[in-house]
Amino acid sequence: MNADGWLADTRTSYDTVAVSYADQVRDALAREPYLRAALALFADLVHAAGGGPVADVGCGPGHVTAHLQKLGIDAFGIDLSAAMIDVARRDHPDLRFEVGSMTDLDLTDASVAGLLAFWSLIHVPDNAVPTTFEHFRRVLRPGGPLLLGFHVGDESRLKTQGYGGHPMKVYVHRRQPDQVAAWLRDAGFTVEAHLLLDPDEGAPGAVLFARRQS
Ligand SMILES: C[S@@+](CC[C@H](N)C(=O)[O-])C[C@H]1O[C@@H](n2cnc3c(N)ncnc32)[C@H](O)[C@@H]1O
Repeated sequence: MNADGWLADTRTSYDTVAVSYADQVRDALAREPYLRAALALFADLVHAAGGGPVADVGCGPGHVTAHLQKLGIDAFGIDLSAAMIDVARRDHPDLRFEVGSMTDLDLTDASVAGLLAFWSLIHVPDNAVPTTFEHFRRVLRPGGPLLLGFHVGDESRLKTQGYGGHPMKVYVHRRQPDQVAAWLRDAGFTVEAHLLLDPDEGAPGAVLFARRQS
């Protein structure tokens, strides 16, 4: 499938589920102590690196962006889906949200102090990940921290419905942390840590901390 095809399908899918997705995840972080700890550590790393604006890329309805703001971070959100951005602006009118794709980030070089992508890279196919990571590196300041969250595994699956039975046409790519780490190193990042979430469950996740090399 060409890039426009999968990007357009992903955008349409999340436009369709934006309101129901927001309803399902609005309070999700309250049930996720390990994610909250990872976000608190990320906030500490951003502060220690001097602070500044932080991009939440693939922000969805903005609940993680808002959580970062409560941690004292100057966070803003970017998402492919205009409907998600509408919901994010509705739910968090004091925060900044823009439509955009992580595969072609419309941000100035070295303009962000940190970058977060939580369960959004999962929709980018392998052949577009290196370009995406080049954009992450380009927009981050040297030494700026990066936090990724993603599903762990080896398969890619076409999701045809979700979030209340709404139709979707979106690929979900599971990946091994070592593969993601290798792509990051190739793009000019140093990988600092990763945490495996729910290793005893059928669908483990990972959060991975990296940093743009100088
Ligand atoms: C599973 S949701 C995760 C949302 C949020 N980060 C969270 O943790 O709940 C995936 C989000 O990634 C967005 N997304 C998918 N591909 C994207 C891309 N190429 N650029 C920006 N956002 C993208 C979708 O529109 C959707 O809002």
